[in-house]
Amino acid sequence: MNGSIENRPEKLQDFEPSLGEFRDGVIEGLSAPAKTLPCKFLYDDRGSHLFDAICEQPEYYPTRTETGILTRHARDIARTLGPEVRLVEFGSGAGIKIRLLLQALDNPAVCLPVDISREHLLAASAALARDFPDLRIAPVCADYTAHFELPEIPGVTYRSTAAFFPGSTIGNFTRTEAVEFLDGARKLLGQGATMIVGVDLIKNEDTLRAAYDDAAGVTAAFNLNLLRRINRDLGGSFDLSRFRHEARWNTELSRIEMHLVSLREQEVLVGRRSFPFRAGETIHTENSHKYSLGGFRDLAAEAGYETIDVWTDENQLFSVHALRAQ
Ligand code: TRP
Repeated sequence: MNGSIENRPEKLQDFEPSLGEFRDGVIEGLSAPAKTLPCKFLYDDRGSHLFDAICEQPEYYPTRTETGILTRHARDIARTLGPEVRLVEFGSGAGIKIRLLLQALDNPAVCLPVDISREHLLAASAALARDFPDLRIAPVCADYTAHFELPEIPGVTYRSTAAFFPGSTIGNFTRTEAVEFLDGARKLLGQGATMIVGVDLIKNEDTLRAAYDDAAGVTAAFNLNLLRRINRDLGGSFDLSRFRHEARWNTELSRIEMHLVSLREQEVLVGRRSFPFRAGETIHTENSHKYSLGGFRDLAAEAGYETIDVWTDENQLFSVHALRAQ
């Protein structure tokens, strides 16, 4: 118990990717025959705020649908996790969804939000500490697709470990990457750990495309912000008015693809490197894979998890899975 002393997060564990890593990723992606950019770099401070705004767009159903599922089933989830849990959150962002779980949990021991966006993480952790005065909070700034360690917090004991991976962020991996990520998380969290993961479901193409190309243009601004970041941090010469955001549905791979389309033939510099673009050529920036309930259960099984529960909304738009690490 903290009594009247204000609760503060533990010291930040900082594994933020370096500028060099960003540069290498950009050069490699733009040098490929089919140009790509690593999606994790979408989330600088401005990108993280734009992403929060995407979540509030009327077309973007995942956030409010998942929040609805979590609200309705928070007690079931809390029962599944048990008392005095150590709760790791991957890609914590603004930290709204974790509150729904924390409110329902029986005496949670410690919360470890992991996010690649340092400022965003620090702000969200401080707010969480204020709202949950008795909860220890240990923020970790890391690219959770790479190897990192969970800090041991002095004086904290816990009965079990759980992870929370909301937002269908798992869908931003390819299927192979998703299996690898879950497999790595299983080793990080340990046998018997529970993983609560949000997974967007396959649905009609119009609904999907609109969710990734909202009328207000927020998703477009989010996608284009990656070029702005390259200009700022890597001495890039992208003219943002010469690129356009596009969301494509790939039926075969069951995914929405985010692209930036070059509106004309042009040459772009990143530092001293020059990259030619044909008119209509695209940079593929992000994927958002959609699953059936059975399809995701199979994926989880391949990664060494047993599915112990699945919750969905009444329209079967979105799903929340409880997985147990074997
Ligand atoms: N996890 C989110 C999703 O796949 C990420 C996301 C939403 C996103 N909108 C986006 C990523 C637009 C890139 C561009 O739904």
